[in-house]
Amino acid sequence: MRFIGNKENLVDRIYHVIQEKNIKVKSFFDVFAGTANVGRYFKNKNIQIYSSDLLYFSYVLQQAYIVNNKEILFEKLLSKLDFTSRIFFASPLGLVIEYLNNLKPVEGFIYKHYCPSGSSELTQPRKYFSNENGKIIDSIRIQIENWYSDDLISKNEYYVLLACLIETVPYYANVSGVFAAFHKKWDPRAVKKLELRQIKTIINDKTNFSFNVNSVELLDIEADIYYLDPPYNQRQYAPNYHLLETIAKYDNPKIRGVTGIRAYENQKSKFCNKITALQELDKIAKHGLYKTLILSYNTEGIMPQQKIISILEKYGKLETVEFKYLRFKSNNNGLSKSKKYVNEQLFILRKHE
Ligand SMILES: C[S@@+](CC[C@H](N)C(=O)[O-])C[C@H]1O[C@@H](n2cnc3c(N)ncnc32)[C@H](O)[C@@H]1O
Repeated sequence: MRFIGNKENLVDRIYHVIQEKNIKVKSFFDVFAGTANVGRYFKNKNIQIYSSDLLYFSYVLQQAYIVNNKEILFEKLLSKLDFTSRIFFASPLGLVIEYLNNLKPVEGFIYKHYCPSGSSELTQPRKYFSNENGKIIDSIRIQIENWYSDDLISKNEYYVLLACLIETVPYYANVSGVFAAFHKKWDPRAVKKLELRQIKTIINDKTNFSFNVNSVELLDIEADIYYLDPPYNQRQYAPNYHLLETIAKYDNPKIRGVTGIRAYENQKSKFCNKITALQELDKIAKHGLYKTLILSYNTEGIMPQQKIISILEKYGKLETVEFKYLRFKSNNNGLSKSKKYVNEQLFILRKHE
């Protein structure tokens, strides 16, 4: 998924640094999980994962990729669905996805507020999704919720289906990566008919945990590694991804403004302010029950390098590793994007015994 600060392309290098430095890792806490990509990578290595994020849609992804630990079979649902598949040898998830892809479109919350016809009474009707795709998103989201409340799908099955929807939606959104604004003209991918995509489940032989809270409240988690990948600048994540949050929660929120943003007071990160970021970093380094703390940060971040070093050095032996990294960048109003090389730095702190 396109997500600011997504470490999909960096995580393999981080793992190699961990190996080269002989850092023990049987358990791993992904403290700022985002897309859950980092946790997924380490789960694949059969490491026990803890992960957390302030965003609920991140929690959905974490539940589907990190907590769910088996192939899902949809036994109850498939025994009730009256439906003939056109796909040979489809997996149970494949069958359910096919069913969802053939639902009758519904004019629900997304259509009414984020598509041009649904929001036509506004001075500037919103063009986040085509009318057709808005209705498809509504029909799929409502059906998943109904199955869950009718007890036809398990909690794991519920989160896997929601994760399929969350992973699919950005491919059809009329935006430049973030949802802080929509294009005035249609991007070609936004006018293609939305087809729900399958996610791949990951299985290891550990029990893994995920949370949807301020991670600074989770410092009693004991893990060999705490991996910290906090926001780098003042831009809060919640307003930039408000629509994914609303699709994940589907809670008919009060929305406002040209973009139809939801309130995010309780999802503001202290890492988006230079002073409070340093204070929070200190708390984690001081109180966290880790053996090694790894902070990913880059030279453009709001916490100055020297300040980071002086905080972390108090708690153990500190090393830094630096690499060049191609980072996704979207401008302030989200209407243009560029690729940019930045220097990504790893601060590796081995705590005093
Ligand atoms: C740079 S992104 C992480 C990207 C992630 N490593 C990935 O690969 O997708 C930072 C994340 O930290 C989350 N966040 C910020 N402050 C937080 C806090 N205090 N507790 C939990 N999550 C927080 C944001 O919501 C955002 O998802």
